[in-house]
Amino acid sequence: MARVHNFGAGPAALPLPVLEKAQAELLDFNGNGMSIMEMSHRSKGFDAIIKTAEANIRKLMNISDDYAVLFLQGGASHQFAMIPQNLLLPGKTADYAHTGEWAKKAIGEAKVVGKVNTVWNGEADKFARMPNPDEYKLTPGAAYLHICTNETIGGVRMKAFPKSSAPLLADMSSEFMSRVVNVNDFAMIYGGAQKNLGPSGLALVIMRRDLANACPETVSKFMRYQTHIEGESLYNTPNTWAIYIIKLVTDWLLGLGGIAAMEKLNEEKAAILYSALDSSSFWKPVAVKDYRSTMNITWRMGSEALEEKFTKEATAAGMIGLKGHRSVGGLRASIYNACPRESVKALVSFMNDFEKKNG
Ligand SMILES: Cc1ncc(COP(=O)(O)O)c(C=O)c1O
Repeated sequence: MARVHNFGAGPAALPLPVLEKAQAELLDFNGNGMSIMEMSHRSKGFDAIIKTAEANIRKLMNISDDYAVLFLQGGASHQFAMIPQNLLLPGKTADYAHTGEWAKKAIGEAKVVGKVNTVWNGEADKFARMPNPDEYKLTPGAAYLHICTNETIGGVRMKAFPKSSAPLLADMSSEFMSRVVNVNDFAMIYGGAQKNLGPSGLALVIMRRDLANACPETVSKFMRYQTHIEGESLYNTPNTWAIYIIKLVTDWLLGLGGIAAMEKLNEEKAAILYSALDSSSFWKPVAVKDYRSTMNITWRMGSEALEEKFTKEATAAGMIGLKGHRSVGGLRASIYNACPRESVKALVSFMNDFEKKNG
């Protein structure tokens, strides 16, 4: 079996044991004589899957019953739109930290609905760093404060989160369940599944239940959080396959010792790669040190031609997904939870060889 070293930013590598289990259960899930994809979302079999997925997530992140856990379609971008529609009430202002491309998209959707105050802007620093908790210029009485805790494109992450009297909402797409966070510090945490949780096209939303109550009457039923809370993520036919894979991924995470154990592993993997990048001026890491992401690691090289040579030769050596995002160029290795330490070591060894030949 030829599996590549996958450094793609998302959809991204899934844990091998998860893929093997899904493969083994593909034709006959649990003695039902059919795959999970072919079963009703209202069947007993699927009910057990979605309930276990939710219970696993609650256990991993220590989530109380004050919060709903929702599996919604459309991914994180859909949440960019749903959030202001539900929570940016007439006459109110929403606070957003502009930390990069994803924050910008979220801000764009909020501006369609109402007034936005950009409470921190990393543009002048080319998004190479994140705000510190005391740097936000918050609006008194804001509807909410929105942050993106890990910017996938720049490869920067927040070391610590802001405190705000307004509800704190966080896009954690590219670092979901990669580090320990206190859910009670947030009114809502959400993210697209395709990096750390499972297949694309699904957003995991953890939201304080009371937040869903104030949605204006003008918002369509499907776009309201309350609809999906009441329907327990089954208001319409959900992405049953993605929920099944999330169940398997969270089983796997629990088996490894949970998020604290995964965080330690993630820090070790990132340290291996950053120390290679810091070892010589041949490599030019992008993110300011204090804000370096452990998930998306970005760097440049002496010229674009050299960067192109690097990705081409890396691909030929079985290492894929290393090209930086099209909006910024350069190189990026996404080393999410499921990216094995061996892949990071293989990349560093390839980098050492490449430097010897081209340095
Ligand atoms: C931080 C962040 N937020 C949002 C998104 C958008 O996610 P989706 O494609 O699921 O809408 C991405 C996608 O890469 C992301 O990295």
